[in-house]
Amino acid sequence: MSQIVLSARDLTRHYKVSRGFMKGHATVKALNGVSFELAAGKTLAVVGESGCGKSTLARQLTLIEEPTSGELSLDNVSVAKAGQSELKALRRKVQMVFQNPYASLNPRQKIGTQLAEPLTINSDLSAAEREAKVKAMMAKVGLRPEHFYRYPHMFSGGQRQRIAIARAMMLNPKIVVADEPTSALDVSIQAQVLNLFMDLQQEFGTAYVFISHNLSVVEHVADDVMVMYLGRAVEVGSKTALYAKPLHPYTQALLSATPSIHPEDRKTKIKIVGELPSPLNPPTGCAFHKRCPHAVERCKQEVPELRPIGGRQVACHRAEEINV
Ligand SMILES: Nc1ncnc2c1ncn2[C@@H]1O[C@H](COP(=O)(O)OP(=O)(O)OP(=O)(O)O)[C@@H](O)[C@H]1O
Ligand code: SF4
Ligand SMILES: [Mg+2]
Repeated sequence: MSQIVLSARDLTRHYKVSRGFMKGHATVKALNGVSFELAAGKTLAVVGESGCGKSTLARQLTLIEEPTSGELSLDNVSVAKAGQSELKALRRKVQMVFQNPYASLNPRQKIGTQLAEPLTINSDLSAAEREAKVKAMMAKVGLRPEHFYRYPHMFSGGQRQRIAIARAMMLNPKIVVADEPTSALDVSIQAQVLNLFMDLQQEFGTAYVFISHNLSVVEHVADDVMVMYLGRAVEVGSKTALYAKPLHPYTQALLSATPSIHPEDRKTKIKIVGELPSPLNPPTGCAFHKRCPHAVERCKQEVPELRPIGGRQVACHRAEEINV
């Protein structure tokens, strides 16, 4: 059993938003009680439609924001109980890679300087030692030594994402949270960047939380998959189990809408009808009930909790009945 490096319990993040002039405030339940564990060197893929709370989850895991409630432990340290120096150490252990690498790089600074920055702040290495370390990491992500002296605009989108990945890896973090890291790239480049993530994980044993709206993107990188809907997890399990036989109606619909995955096994296409409801005004009961082909009266009343079915966790009242 490998070591758990990230544990989230009932992680919740609500945002207060204004309803408009003199109309008071409303609460957006962007993340509504998410729990999971991640072991060293493993990848949890987080999947779901736009607005289901993936980036909100990423911001809580990387300590960019503080959750409204719930518990988060990183490398066996409870974030809520951590003191200033422990928090500083935790921030080094969890790094983030964003969808748009250009936005996360300083346009006026040479790549070498930007990559060396974490070492400048967190180590006693000499300038020459830092440069050597940066160049070694650049080589690992497929960049050449002369790239050290270039500026972000001189690179392609794929190269810029390699730079962002190199920067995330500089301090050998335990966890990298990657939020749609290939979504902005050409399809031909996506597979190369996914392979890079896999190679670095092999070499450094980094655990990944890999966020995507696309199940086919995560198929090759994930060990486990968490499917989210409106701020909650609806199905969590091993990739193998989940792709072989999804049990939640939403996972079934998402998978059947993903053309490249085992098309021979998916003769019937399940269409997800209607819009994703707003987390400002979520439906009662099961949040999926207005779009679910299996919804019954109970689904409108009672929120389904995650429970163990078929070797994974599923949040659906009717999971057994509809999957016989
Ligand atoms: N700072 C904020 N203030 C108010 N509402 C927010 C804030 N951040 C996110 N939200 C809302 O929370 C919900 C979840 O947003 P989030 O960005 O986490 O979704 P996502 O799954 O990452 O979507 P996408 O796939 O489009 O990136 C959305 O309804 C969003 O409008
Ligand atoms: S609880 Fe009901 S509405 Fe929700 S997914 Fe299951 S069958 Fe569909
Ligand atoms: Mg997002």
